[in-house]
Amino acid sequence: MENKVIRDVLFKIQSLPPLPSSVGRLFQLADDPNTDIRDITQTISGDQALTTKVLRVSNSAFYGLSHRVSTISQAVMILGFQGVKNLSLGISVFEFFHKNVPDVSFNREDFWRHSLGVACSSRILSPLFRIPNPEEAYTSGLIHDIGRAIFMEYFTEQYIELLKKAEVGEKSLISLEREAFGIDHAALGGKLCEHWKLPHIFIQAVADHHSSHPQKQPVLKGQDGHEGRMVNLIQVADNVAKIARVGASGDPHVKMDFMQLLAVEKVLPDHVFQLLVDLPTEIQKAEVFFDLVAKPLNVKETEDIPSNRVAVLLKNSVEEGFVSMVLQRLGYHVVTSLDINNEQALAGVIIDEVVSPTLQEFIYRSHLPVLNFAKWQNENKTTINHSVHLERLEAWLGETLASRIG
Ligand SMILES: [Fe+2]
Ligand SMILES: [Fe+2]
Repeated sequence: MENKVIRDVLFKIQSLPPLPSSVGRLFQLADDPNTDIRDITQTISGDQALTTKVLRVSNSAFYGLSHRVSTISQAVMILGFQGVKNLSLGISVFEFFHKNVPDVSFNREDFWRHSLGVACSSRILSPLFRIPNPEEAYTSGLIHDIGRAIFMEYFTEQYIELLKKAEVGEKSLISLEREAFGIDHAALGGKLCEHWKLPHIFIQAVADHHSSHPQKQPVLKGQDGHEGRMVNLIQVADNVAKIARVGASGDPHVKMDFMQLLAVEKVLPDHVFQLLVDLPTEIQKAEVFFDLVAKPLNVKETEDIPSNRVAVLLKNSVEEGFVSMVLQRLGYHVVTSLDINNEQALAGVIIDEVVSPTLQEFIYRSHLPVLNFAKWQNENKTTINHSVHLERLEAWLGETLASRIG
């Protein structure tokens, strides 16, 4: 029975139409050292629909160019071959899902908004992960969840049941998918990339974006292992988009362990904090890509943000980084150490164990609210290893801190 389910799923993948031949040709050209600019312009210009869209996106705020791009050869000169190639792939994948799957079962806009959030985050963070081609990171982010689109569109009722179960938090969406279909959306998306004969870097980024500890099993294919770093980048970007509450990822729980990947790649959490601030604007610029209807993003406006400092003093550095990031998203300024004798006003202190007598005395003197994260985690336990329900965590932090202000 189980075998039949996975056979059905894989058969579905095999029966999906290919991407436009012009995109396949661009990837062939990319591998050919003799390719010149005329081959590229001819390939794109031969596909009228693609030409129009490449020009449109080239002229949008997404690239912020000062000159108007009116021909494909100009676009190639300005954006580079890699840029135009990956842009063409991004446009084609998006088009594919618009044309070939019925819009019945899920909020497609939220799905693509999440994908865009991961794409933008990946592009912005790519230099920190030493990824040579930021457009490749962008495209990997854009397509990382395509397996989810397949489940949602072709196995609708069964998948909606899974999403409801995932909300409860006994099992992650990924393990529920494996149980029900014999394959999860990451592996399924990887299969679709293979079916489309995409380059290995995309197949791997999609297939491994939920692997537990890729940093412990670095995959050193390609130049200097950048395929392994791309997987790490997409995992970080996926979680950043979740914390930034951009679109919907399908799973309300976030595993905190992705913070370890930042340490592995020697990326400072401050860079990610900045990204949480920049992301909404980046996404707005990118929306032209897909003609998404402009909709207010689920991010607080600057004037609503309380200018409060919160001290996060957690023993576990992964948890400390994670909680800090969530607080940052909520508009708090986070400090991770306290100079008790010279401390400015605080909105609260987040701890996870018995605090030292000096700190206790300080908290008592300053009438500070103390939030015990370890206790909250115990009371809101999911059985998914080291994960939290993001919305509930935000509500607890926001309400507890706000209720005691003033
Ligand atoms: Fe995913
Ligand atoms: Fe995702």
